[in-house]
Amino acid sequence: MRIRKAVFPAAGLGTRFLPATKAQPKEMLPLVDKPVIQYVIEEAMASGIENIIIVTGRGKNAIEDHFDVSFELERTLAERNQKELLKLVRDISSMIHVSYVRQKEPLGLGHAVLCAKEMVGNEPFAVFLGDDIIESRVPAMSQMMKVFARRRCSILAVEPVPNERTRDYGVIAHNRGARGDIYQVTDLVEKPLPEEAPSNLAIIGRYILTPEIFSHLEKTRPDAKGEIQLTNGLRSLLKKQPIAAYRFQGKRFDTGNKLGFLKATVEFALKRKDLGPGFREYLKSLKL
Ligand code: G1P
Repeated sequence: MRIRKAVFPAAGLGTRFLPATKAQPKEMLPLVDKPVIQYVIEEAMASGIENIIIVTGRGKNAIEDHFDVSFELERTLAERNQKELLKLVRDISSMIHVSYVRQKEPLGLGHAVLCAKEMVGNEPFAVFLGDDIIESRVPAMSQMMKVFARRRCSILAVEPVPNERTRDYGVIAHNRGARGDIYQVTDLVEKPLPEEAPSNLAIIGRYILTPEIFSHLEKTRPDAKGEIQLTNGLRSLLKKQPIAAYRFQGKRFDTGNKLGFLKATVEFALKRKDLGPGFREYLKSLKL
C-alpha cells in the first residue's frame, strides 16, 4: 500500500495576509524567491508522491499558471540565451503530474479534502497544508510513510505547542505507544482553549488518511462558523478505525501568519549560498 497521491487544499481566502492576497493566492507568496506552495510540493516529490491534487477556488489561477508551461517566457529566455533561468522555469512545469479540483464555496478544510474524493479513489493518500513548511534531513512525509507501512492506519503529524497556542490547532488526546514518537490517538478537538485542551500535541499540516475518511467527512456537520472541519471527520473515523499521531523530526515554519512568514523568510535567506553572507552582514549592521 504505497502512498501515491497527495491532496493540497489551496482554496482558502488568505485573509491573514490582506492586502497582499487581495488579487493573489496566499500560496503564491514568495519565501525569498520561491512561492510557498512550491516548497511543500517539493517535499511531496522528495517523499515519492506521484500525483498532486490541488484543491483550488476563486482567484487561484496563478497556482495553475505557475505549474504550467509558460510558452512566452520560455521562448524569451531561450532567445536571450538565459539557460539557467530557462531550466529553472522548465523544471517547475515538468516537476510532477498536477491535477486541479475546484472547491466552489469555502466550506472548510474537511470539505476541501472531500472535493478530492473522486480523484483519490479507494486508496490511502497524503494531505499537505501549504502553511506548514518542514525542514528536515528525511522529508517529514517520508517519515510518516514509514510509520504508515507498519501501522496501516491514518497518521497525523503532531508537535508540542505552548498551552496558550492550542486554540490555533487541532489537538489530540492520546496513549503513548511503545515508541516515544508515535501515539495512539484517543480523541481529537479542533482549536480548544488552553483549559480544555486534552494535551499540548497539535496537529501539523501533514496527514496520511485512509479512504474511509471520505464517508465520514460526508456525514460531518458544519461547525459554528459553517465549516466542515477535517478534525471532526477524523473524530468520526476514530470510532471505526485506529488513528496514530507521529512526532516528526524536523523544524516547522508556520508561514500561515505574518510573524511566522517573516521568520521563515529570514532563515531561508540566511541559508542561501548566493544571498546568505550579504544578508547576514546586513542583519548584523542593524543595531537591534
Ligand atoms: C488546520 C486544521 C487544524 C490543524 C492546522 C495545522 O487549521 O483545522 O486542525 O492543526 O490546520 O496547520 P487552520 O490552520 O487551517 O486554521
